[in-house]
Amino acid sequence: LLLNVFLFLLKTICIENSLPFFILTGNRVKTDCTETANTSCVACKGGTHMDQPSGRKQCIHCTICDLSFGLKENRTCTSTLDTVCEPQDGFYCVDLAAGSCVAAHKHRQCQPGEYIRQTGTAFRDTECSVCSKGTFSDGTLKFCRPHRPCESLNLKLIRPGNATTDAQCDEQDENVVLSWIITGCLLLILLIVILVALCLFRKKIGCLKRARKASSPPQSVQSCESRTVKHTQVSYQKHTPKKGK
Ligand SMILES: *[C@@H]1O[C@H](CO)[C@@H](O)[C@H](O)[C@H]1NC(C)=O
Ligand SMILES: *[C@@H]1O[C@H](CO)[C@@H](O)[C@H](O)[C@H]1NC(C)=O
Ligand SMILES: *[C@@H]1O[C@H](CO)[C@@H](O)[C@H](O)[C@H]1NC(C)=O
Repeated sequence: LLLNVFLFLLKTICIENSLPFFILTGNRVKTDCTETANTSCVACKGGTHMDQPSGRKQCIHCTICDLSFGLKENRTCTSTLDTVCEPQDGFYCVDLAAGSCVAAHKHRQCQPGEYIRQTGTAFRDTECSVCSKGTFSDGTLKFCRPHRPCESLNLKLIRPGNATTDAQCDEQDENVVLSWIITGCLLLILLIVILVALCLFRKKIGCLKRARKASSPPQSVQSCESRTVKHTQVSYQKHTPKKGK
């Protein structure tokens, strides 16, 4: 202890006696001063620093921001200033020492059924809130979306929505279904009309054919008649000259 006190006094005297040799930041003591020699200093290097004047013979190792603890470098170490660490993206600082983050936690993830009320920052965790009734969210949105209003869209509700999932509607519009049924009926009626018309037409053709078949004998009769007529004419002509004679 006596020796320490003596050395301290000696150093103080020494420093006071030779102010320019006051140990500057970024330096370490190479050799202590004596009554005959000023203190000699040497700059810190190789990942070390000295951020305040001191009589230390060793520079202090620079802080390393531990990547596996969610930290990263904000400011690189110099001979006069230590490293400043900050949280990585998606992390927030839970322990700050001398302006540098020492420990960081991951931002909380909002759950399905919750929305992000406040996005997390480097110094504050994310804040989540539960979706209000009639809305839903998967936890990644800044708001909850309202359920699809199936009824007011004229759609049949298949499954009502809850805080995590949307309502599910029957995509077939009831009016559309009705119009399809009506169209179907109309088509059926049209088909029946066409079939009936076709049947009638065929019947008519059949009638015509029969009519043609039926009209054949009268034709022969007619020719027959004409022959008879000719015959009678001939016979008449034959008779006439006789009469004329
Ligand atoms: C200590 O430094 C001062 C200022 O530069 C100088 O005047 C003095 O001679 C030095 N002393 C020794 C012992 O070197
Ligand atoms: C990192 O540096 C920026 C300025 O470049 C500063 O605003 C921020 O607060 C720093 N972060 C920490 C953790 O010191
Ligand atoms: C919400 O509905 C979905 C699908 O029907 C279901 O899987 C889920 O468990 C429901 N969630 C809650 C909180 O009721």
